[in-house]
Amino acid sequence: MGVTAPGPDSRGSTAVQPLSSARRPCATLGGEMVEHRPPSSRLLAPIALGPLRLANRLVKAAQRLGYADPDGAVNDRVVAAYEALARGGVGLIAIGRCACDTPTAGPAGGLRLDDDAYLPGMRRLAEAIHAHDVPVVAQLDHVLAEPFDALAPARLEQLVERFAAAARRAGKAGLDGVELRALPDGVLHASLCAAHNRRQDAWGGDADGRARLATEVVRAVRAALGPEAAVGVKLVAAERGHVDARARDEAIDLARRLEAAGASYLLVSAGGYGVHAGAAWPELPRYPAPPAGDRAYAARLPRAAVLPAAEAIRTAVSLPVGVVGHLDLAAAEAALAKDRVDFVALGRPLLADPELPSKLAAGRAERIRPCVRCNLCLHAAVIREPVRCRMNARLGAEAELVYAPAERAKHVMVVGAGPAGLEAARVAALRGHHVMLYDKAPGLGGLMPMAALIKGEATDDIAGALDYYARELDRLGVEVHLAREVDVELVELLAPDAVVLATGGVPRLPGVAGIERAHVTSTADLHAHAARYLHLLGSRMMRKLSKLYVPVGKRVAILGGDLVGLELAEFFISRGREVTVVGEAPELGAGMPRPWRDRLVPWLSARGCACYAGATCREVTEAGVLFDSAEGEPHSVDADTVLVVAQRRENPALVSAIAPLVPEVRRVGEAAGGLDPSIMGAIHSGARVGARL
Ligand SMILES: Cc1cc2nc3c(=O)[nH]c(=O)nc-3n(C[C@H](O)[C@H](O)[C@H](O)COP(=O)(O)O)c2cc1C
Ligand code: SF4
Repeated sequence: MGVTAPGPDSRGSTAVQPLSSARRPCATLGGEMVEHRPPSSRLLAPIALGPLRLANRLVKAAQRLGYADPDGAVNDRVVAAYEALARGGVGLIAIGRCACDTPTAGPAGGLRLDDDAYLPGMRRLAEAIHAHDVPVVAQLDHVLAEPFDALAPARLEQLVERFAAAARRAGKAGLDGVELRALPDGVLHASLCAAHNRRQDAWGGDADGRARLATEVVRAVRAALGPEAAVGVKLVAAERGHVDARARDEAIDLARRLEAAGASYLLVSAGGYGVHAGAAWPELPRYPAPPAGDRAYAARLPRAAVLPAAEAIRTAVSLPVGVVGHLDLAAAEAALAKDRVDFVALGRPLLADPELPSKLAAGRAERIRPCVRCNLCLHAAVIREPVRCRMNARLGAEAELVYAPAERAKHVMVVGAGPAGLEAARVAALRGHHVMLYDKAPGLGGLMPMAALIKGEATDDIAGALDYYARELDRLGVEVHLAREVDVELVELLAPDAVVLATGGVPRLPGVAGIERAHVTSTADLHAHAARYLHLLGSRMMRKLSKLYVPVGKRVAILGGDLVGLELAEFFISRGREVTVVGEAPELGAGMPRPWRDRLVPWLSARGCACYAGATCREVTEAGVLFDSAEGEPHSVDADTVLVVAQRRENPALVSAIAPLVPEVRRVGEAAGGLDPSIMGAIHSGARVGARL
């Protein structure tokens, strides 16, 4: 593996250096091979991280994907996911955190390097990544189950040796080095933080003591791996949210110590306490509104919140310093162009599109599938489930969901331009089919524009997803027919080889007494009411106008406590309504990323919005709603408007009419009675059908 050749200056000169032809990533876009243009981007300039020579400055930030075997071993799914990233041409891959001691939180798809038994799997993973000429490091971590202060000195010495042993295994497996994770919930971060480390022995007490574990680990790992391997450290710079949070000066001092101990690179991430703990997600403190008393900070957070701290660290050390956290390509490019950092790491954007680097190198940035910041991947990681990406159905399913060129190009009619239909049309066209997409609505997206109106853009860039589909369908030559209802006559006339029904489900109201009353409305009614204006004015303008008018009374009872119910509650409260949520499911906010739900529920409650989970609605009366709480207590709530979050059921009418006319009829999304009515469920369902046509 030729990744240790002497390379360019580790800081990189300001002039962009072309990639050697051997290292230029090769892009396969829409089935066609794209010619490479000479890169003119700082992101695409090579860089040396210690002994490693990277073809470009885009690093895959370590992310726990949760695909490993229950015992923590590498399997086919892990290899396929990382191979897709390597094929996409990223400069360096950091494999999501690998336990270097017996994991404390039990098996949940995390990787391990705490035993030689994991060597064969890691070797296979390294070979798969190296086959694409991409260097790879394993991120090492030990998650603490106990307070740091409770660890005996002998245990700390043992942990130093555990990190070194895991690094030795990484080297034996053929990896190019390791990255030490010094972030919240890990032992290295705890030892470095005065907020966690209150010890008065040699492992705490002052800056020397607190830095001891991290510097000893770097030294031991360096000794285990030798000079030819990279030893990176991912650390938190300036923290917020605690009186003992690490200040920037302390982070600079730490960076100097890590450099002296033998680190090859530093990757600076955000972090902190309380609402700032997830500061790599600067949208979180602002959701659904900035915290009282900290409005200025939350409102001021730039897209790359941690960049100033990374820049300050970079000026104090001579090793390469990178930054990670909520960067888009423009922010990353600007940070490099202004020499604020040496490289950038991307997490979610590379999950959404592993081919991002090769598309960039091919001068095809507009083809990059955007990460829309829905944070469903984060939610999966938080609840320790395998990570899925809303926008990239192939993530974690690379082996079984393959978009192979179609054996025979068919005429495919896709009915319904919601997320399922859009993705089915995109994938079918990508594979070489002639695709016609129909929708009776005048715009693309089905319910997506309505969702964008309710959610806004701060936490979910639904408009960005729609822009992507519009661009891709245009590029792939999909014929789009809007404001055109499909009937049997049209199908007979066009005589397609295949029809994909993506018409969405039929709204179904609960069978509750009084549900037909005049003051009952549903999410489907709201959508019907808003659809035409949404198309004419767009969701952003409609959101502004909704501050002046919404078609509900002063007091609103929402029947439905899932993601949609809670987001509607936030929307109407922010527009001066008094809201009560009555949900049947045992938990509130189903389908919502947990960190967001954990902020929204208290926000609603602080505004007098009672939210009932596990409730049974008994009757809608003239005055409001009668229901039983989860404990069986009878309740009533007064409401001028009762808003039902309409469940949807399969729509069998069109399929039975069309089936005799067309050789191949397939249903996707809710039209197929899919279990997952979310945008992600719809997109993934569309991808699977598009791949099978
Ligand atoms: C699903 C998921 C899993 C993650 N797992 C890890 C991990 O194992 N180690 C780590 O250092 N950071 C982890 N992170 C944080 C990312 O590496 C990255 O710092 C964060 O996502 C911000 O970067 P981004 O905005 O480019 O995604 C994870 C993030 C996500 C969303
Ligand atoms: S799940 Fe959402 S936030 Fe995560 S990578 Fe995909 S689009 Fe981005």
